[in-house]
Amino acid sequence: MTKLLIDTDPGVDDALAILMAFADPAVEVVGLTVAAGNVGLHHTVRNALRLVETAGLDLPVHPGCPAPILPPPPSAAFVHGEDGFGDAGLPEPARRASSVHAVDAILEAARRHAGELTLVCLGPLTNLAVALMIDPTLPSRVPRLVVMGGAVDGRGNTERIKAEFNIGFDPEAADIVFRRWPHFELVDWEATLAHGIPFDRLDDWLTAETPGARLMRAIAEKRHAWVRAHRSATHSHLADALAMAVVLEPALVAEAEERHVSVSLVGEHTRGMTVVDWTCRTGLAANVRIARRIDQAGFERRVEGALRAG
Ligand code: BDR
Ligand code: CA
Repeated sequence: MTKLLIDTDPGVDDALAILMAFADPAVEVVGLTVAAGNVGLHHTVRNALRLVETAGLDLPVHPGCPAPILPPPPSAAFVHGEDGFGDAGLPEPARRASSVHAVDAILEAARRHAGELTLVCLGPLTNLAVALMIDPTLPSRVPRLVVMGGAVDGRGNTERIKAEFNIGFDPEAADIVFRRWPHFELVDWEATLAHGIPFDRLDDWLTAETPGARLMRAIAEKRHAWVRAHRSATHSHLADALAMAVVLEPALVAEAEERHVSVSLVGEHTRGMTVVDWTCRTGLAANVRIARRIDQAGFERRVEGALRAG
């Protein structure tokens, strides 16, 4: 059984991704470590607790770093709502967060499940970067790291044109991870754009009378209205859900490229940009496996399954 630790900043698409992991009987989620990102840490922790409660599970939620290494952080409240969960007026969760900090929880999970832990990062990389600063040998105990982040073709989705949100939120943290984690998998914003789910299909799955679908229905309403209005979109782009599909079913990656990727720390439009050495000019070893094409039907099957089952 895969042991999975999820670092996350929920967030509507984080929520769906986490429900997908909870719905997979082949996976044991050992905990949620929480980052500040889409909205402030107090909201993201509360939302993580709500997800665990919705699924009726008993697993720890560890609050992490409250801010990026160098502030000020941007916010994605205009997409995810002021509380990160669509301002749906959800009741307070009854569960309490763990007193163990997310960074300690990452280090501890890697020790306890050495050689068998999969770590997936669905938010800014602050917690993982600090963990790496404390223990640079961490990657030797974690055989698989999957990161949702970056925009390898440079389209980006933030005001700094070339930067994707998770990397742009904390470029220094991303730089530490991209330099020090010898090799990991990346599901980026460009892959996300290429794998949208038509709203009519998603809306249909969201009518399921399961606790997970009910929660997603409530929290996604604002985000979907915003995306439809501002991007005239016919498809929903669920970055974290796509990354989670790859985590749960690696064979869904139909096309991948191994490249050296670094993070730009400077530039009015480029701070937080992921810089890919497409033509191998630097001579640096590939540190990232970039998922370029993912089996769309398999991805949608995972999303539908999680909403109808959970
Ligand atoms: C990423 O940014 C966040 O808003 C989403 O939750 C996702 O992790 C996409 O750029
Ligand atoms: Ca996220």
